[in-house]
Amino acid sequence: MFDFKYFTPTKVIFGKNTESMVAELIKEFGGTKILIHYGGGSVVRSGLLKRVTDTLEEAGISYVTLGGAVPNPHLSLVYEGIELCKKEKVDFLLAVGGGSAIDSAKAIGYGLANEGDVWDFYDYKRTATESIPLGVILTIAATGSEMSDSSVITKEEGLVKRGYNSDLSRPKFAILNPELTMTLPDYQTACGCTDIMMHTMERYFTNGGNMEITDSLAEGLLRTVKKNALILKDDPKNYDARAEVMWAGSLSHNGLTGCGNDGGDWMTHKLEHELGGLYDVAHGAGLAAIWGSWARYVYKNCLPRFKKFALNVMEVEDRGTDEEIALCGIEAMEDFFRSINMPTNLKELGVKPTEEELALMAKKCAIGVGGAKGSARVLNEEAMLAIYRASM
Ligand code: NZQ
Ligand code: ZN
Repeated sequence: MFDFKYFTPTKVIFGKNTESMVAELIKEFGGTKILIHYGGGSVVRSGLLKRVTDTLEEAGISYVTLGGAVPNPHLSLVYEGIELCKKEKVDFLLAVGGGSAIDSAKAIGYGLANEGDVWDFYDYKRTATESIPLGVILTIAATGSEMSDSSVITKEEGLVKRGYNSDLSRPKFAILNPELTMTLPDYQTACGCTDIMMHTMERYFTNGGNMEITDSLAEGLLRTVKKNALILKDDPKNYDARAEVMWAGSLSHNGLTGCGNDGGDWMTHKLEHELGGLYDVAHGAGLAAIWGSWARYVYKNCLPRFKKFALNVMEVEDRGTDEEIALCGIEAMEDFFRSINMPTNLKELGVKPTEEELALMAKKCAIGVGGAKGSARVLNEEAMLAIYRASM
């Protein structure tokens, strides 16, 4: 096992009606002028935004609002948010929504607190030294951005989707009310469950470290999400299942399931980010579409982990060679994706890249990771292209 640093400064408030505590939390963390940042309007339709603004007004906290963070959030809105915050002298950001609103708020926070072009951080040209404090009211269990150090933004020019990681962006508080996720379309619930599982699997399929306690947490988390994703498919208003998935989402990406291992593989995510940038697909669906091809490409280089996953998570029979068991585990995972209506290839995802587009994605992905990356197996541009081709 490897040494590690585990830093989770986010105060989590979990349960029914917890959004009513937003004003006192903002005061606790010193916010006096707030930007409320949200997405395409689900929080307006559900009435959540109104409840939040009413609560702030009652508490005498002044705010401005900025909606419009789209899935795969755009850099142009980040620039708009930075200008608005400068003009309004905002000192605290409140994201109300999903990963897209949260990530966009994180980027606004970097842009507001640091000189120069915020895209430089996402383009690996500079490192942020400061950020503006951020609180979150989460409406979809998926990315774990409510506790993560990550923010993923798409620059429209060139359709470049990039992530930037820094502890500076970890939210001060996260309000997690599972009831707020009950208005989600079934597809988004399934995308979220997929993303949650993938955040743990990226850390699980590694060739270094691998502590037993971390593995047990990871396997328990994966089995829990798998079980509850199936419950939600038939019973989307099931509070307990919503709660299990929501807490799993935060734990899957706050670093817990990576302690002791070598930091994660992350290549399914990197390959998906190119799909998201080019075709604007839902992140979770993109991950499901690419994972099987990635797994078949790398499993022989990470066989003990794929066997362990097959037995302990997918609960396949312990019969045959290690390779046969590993392959059964991969097939069982794809069967699970299909059972929650997630795609297992690009055709099912609804995109049909040309050979030139596949090559372009592989090229951009290789540039994005600095040449080659991976822990289960290190992938270069040629390997990335092979996986994209296999996922057609
Ligand atoms: O935009 P609105 O109108 O709010 O609708 C959203 C959006 O259409 C809708 N939605 C969210 N909560 C809802 C709801 N609809 C009804 N009822 C609710 N309660 O769901 C759609 C998806 O929302 P979005 O915020 O885009 O989803 P998600 O949380 O999956 O975020 C995806 C983005 O996060 C990035 C992804 O790449 C993608 O850009 N990621 C961020 C990470 C991080 N910061 O740590 C890690 C991830 O691996 C990921 O890359
Ligand atoms: Zn993800």
